[in-house]
Amino acid sequence: MKIIDNNKINLSVLKNSIVQPEIFEKGTDKFWDDEYISEQMLNFHLNPDIEAASKTKDTIDAEASFIIKSTNMKGGKKVLDLGCGPGLYVREFAKTGAMVTGVDISERSINYANENIKPEYKNTLFIKKNYLNISFNNSFDIATLIFYDFCALSTNEQMILLSKIHGALRDNGILILDVVSENKETSISTNVSVCEGGFWSPKPYIEILNTYLYEEPKTEGLQYTIIDEDGVTKVIRIYHRLFKLTEITKMLNKNGFKIESL
Ligand SMILES: C[S@@+](CC[C@H](N)C(=O)[O-])C[C@H]1O[C@@H](n2cnc3c(N)ncnc32)[C@H](O)[C@@H]1O
Repeated sequence: MKIIDNNKINLSVLKNSIVQPEIFEKGTDKFWDDEYISEQMLNFHLNPDIEAASKTKDTIDAEASFIIKSTNMKGGKKVLDLGCGPGLYVREFAKTGAMVTGVDISERSINYANENIKPEYKNTLFIKKNYLNISFNNSFDIATLIFYDFCALSTNEQMILLSKIHGALRDNGILILDVVSENKETSISTNVSVCEGGFWSPKPYIEILNTYLYEEPKTEGLQYTIIDEDGVTKVIRIYHRLFKLTEITKMLNKNGFKIESL
């Protein structure tokens, strides 16, 4: 998509890039599995002090130990970590002796995990795959989906994923996931910045960030419009579905899950 036509700014392309999209409308470009962006993302994952692509190291350690304890994870158990990123939780789970499978769409993250985690923890397996397409059958005791990944999906995708996870778990299997609460502070805003090169591209670009809110279902939408010096324009959209406990409970129940604890 180009915003400059015959040396003129094409205002309708610009307008279409920044208006509020339909809820869960996809962007024009890749995000997690883009060659350049995934490199920036991996740096965020591996920075122990910032909560960006992964939570901070202290939080990961605390959450992993909570998950291990509350699921009685140990040797002999089979664990599935969906959206595993570079495997920061997989590594902690693997220390228990459990067989841990990580699935992620980002080739860069899976390569990192295979090169840096797999050699030390032979009881791990990393698979590059869209988790909406998994087809495991009664294979796992425990499944995890961590860092609000669930909330980035459309309602339809959420239902597909829950049904896939239910199919992947053995009877009495356990799913642990985190979701964004309806109480998250949100606002409608627009911010424009000019970067010499940064998160979205190594070359100079303009970033227009529009934040939108949707009521049904309650969802925050972040829309990044990135315009480079030649007018090439990409739109990246990220959603955070904001859940009431009753809503996530209903969705889980519909897919055969019973809530053990919140
Ligand atoms: C917010 S990060 C969290 C990573 C990891 N769970 C952690 O907390 O360190 C989300 C991860 O989900 C992956 N992801 C996003 N959509 C996916 C999909 N459809 N299938 C598989 N992985 C996906 C991304 O590549 C990214 O690694």
